[in-house]
Amino acid sequence: MTELELIIDFHKNSERQGPGSKKETLKALGFMDLPITQKLKVADIGCGSGGQTITLAQNLNAKITAVDLFPEFLSELNEKAKKFGLIEKIKTLEKSMEDLPFKNEEYDIIWSEGAIYNIGFENGLKKWKDYLKVGGYLAVSEITWITYSRPKEIEDFWKQEYPEVDTASNKIKLIENNGYSLVGYFYLKPESWIKNYYKPMKERFKAFLERNNNSSIARKVVDEHNAEMELYLKYKEYYSYGFYIARKN
Ligand SMILES: C[S@@+](CC[C@H](N)C(=O)[O-])C[C@H]1O[C@@H](n2cnc3c(N)ncnc32)[C@H](O)[C@@H]1O
Repeated sequence: MTELELIIDFHKNSERQGPGSKKETLKALGFMDLPITQKLKVADIGCGSGGQTITLAQNLNAKITAVDLFPEFLSELNEKAKKFGLIEKIKTLEKSMEDLPFKNEEYDIIWSEGAIYNIGFENGLKKWKDYLKVGGYLAVSEITWITYSRPKEIEDFWKQEYPEVDTASNKIKLIENNGYSLVGYFYLKPESWIKNYYKPMKERFKAFLERNNNSSIARKVVDEHNAEMELYLKYKEYYSYGFYIARKN
């Protein structure tokens, strides 16, 4: 298997592919002033195996289009949707977030937890705005500095990994400059990283290595995930996922 195939294999059976929680998905939803009677159209972009998609489907009167690049994650989501009796509400779509087959002003809500970075925060704000109705909502989570300054090691790491890493105030400026009004912001609690993401991830290392014959690429995948987790544990007071909820003007 290639490294990418191994990464997919490593993540596909997990509840989430990034930090987050049901509580925080609902908290973000709580900032939106939504009509009660009308059926909403929602796009969940970079949905992974759909941890947050299921929560959205359980709490909204909506049709959700759940998009991801990798069919392995979408199959998991389809299984979950069946299990929870939500197949009528969730339609999966294998597509790149860069090239979505959506119409102008088609959606009431565009949701994306931990995934907009794949096309860049500002690029995503610009591209996805077209698909939102005027007054529709965007909810995205994104790596964010939560203090004004930070140690050089972590600053260098994130600048290298993701040059768009920034403070919430600068991200909010981008949101406002691109035709949205912010209606809510908070950042994810450490528990959403540790309990919901890193702990289950660590528990999967052994079985992952065994089923991949302890190959050098499989070990590299484990080492990289481990290093990312160690860095988070060391520097967790300096960064998190900021959750931004904004309304299209
Ligand atoms: C960090 S995971 C987050 C998954 C999920 N939203 C969650 O919070 O558990 C990022 C997701 O973006 C997807 N992804 C990466 N590049 C993509 C692209 N170009 N188009 C669509 N999805 C993409 C990945 O397959 C992955 O499922």
